[in-house]
Amino acid sequence: MDYQKILEDIYKEILPFACEGAQADYIPALAQINPDQFGICLKLVSGEEYSHMQSDTRFSIQSIAKVFALAMGLALKGESLWDKVGKEPSGTAFNSLVQLEFEKGKPRNPFINAGAIVVADILLSELEDAEGEFLSFVRALSGSDDIEYNMSVALSEREKGYLNAAIGNLLKYHGTIKNDIERVLMFYFKMCSVEMSCRELAQAFLAFTNHSTFEYAGYTLSRSRIKRLNAVMQTCGFYDEAGEFSYLVGLPGKSGVGGGIVALCPHRYAVSVWSPRLNSKGNSVLGMKALELLTTYTEESIF
Ligand code: DON
Repeated sequence: MDYQKILEDIYKEILPFACEGAQADYIPALAQINPDQFGICLKLVSGEEYSHMQSDTRFSIQSIAKVFALAMGLALKGESLWDKVGKEPSGTAFNSLVQLEFEKGKPRNPFINAGAIVVADILLSELEDAEGEFLSFVRALSGSDDIEYNMSVALSEREKGYLNAAIGNLLKYHGTIKNDIERVLMFYFKMCSVEMSCRELAQAFLAFTNHSTFEYAGYTLSRSRIKRLNAVMQTCGFYDEAGEFSYLVGLPGKSGVGGGIVALCPHRYAVSVWSPRLNSKGNSVLGMKALELLTTYTEESIF
């Protein structure tokens, strides 16, 4: 299969939609990003790599970080992690408060903000240097030693993070999080502020394709656990658009409001695409279209 040609053809085909949507502006630092950018990188488990356009430009991974945090949480806590956070799709926006209040402070899943804030709290309770360990884990997965937090993005989100602060307070009120609210939120914002390129994200997510033993920076996950982590990405990775992504693309994956999307075909490939303009659900417009075309042309999805 000529993956390189497929990626180039896809780019030409999605170009007419290049002005649809807008970059996230509720995080002031992200509003400054040039919205007219695009990159894609696909890595096969056999080692071949294909990319097009800005596949080496780093961007804010935002909610994609929630997958890394969950992987660490599962390695540390095993099934008991699910005592604090559910694994059902929410059908609500990633920052919704309504369900959390109704369900007495147990978030539906680890990929909505409330769930990821709970996972951040668990990592802080389990680890002496959660910030350092998180970076080491992401660096080991991606093979890039210079991946960093972007503190100006994290602080800019903190400054305007009223909804996440409300979520943090609700979680604390219900006793779901143990640590100081400010501490937990700042760690959560820092994880979201990590910057990576499509190439680095595709490399990192190859680890979740279950093609080899998962052992990175001292964190180990069994094949069965990776299977389950993929199941949560499939059902919850795109919030109230999880059904749509499943329908159009047919792969487990995760998006972020920085405009990145990572998806994977178990035992076959990982792919990352980035373009900052988002649709109304907070998912990259060109990213969604590119992945839909990728699984249509390659006929490689999980269905
Ligand atoms: O907490 C937030 O709102 C952001 N740091 C992350 C949200 C996000 O990326 C949702 N993704 N589509």
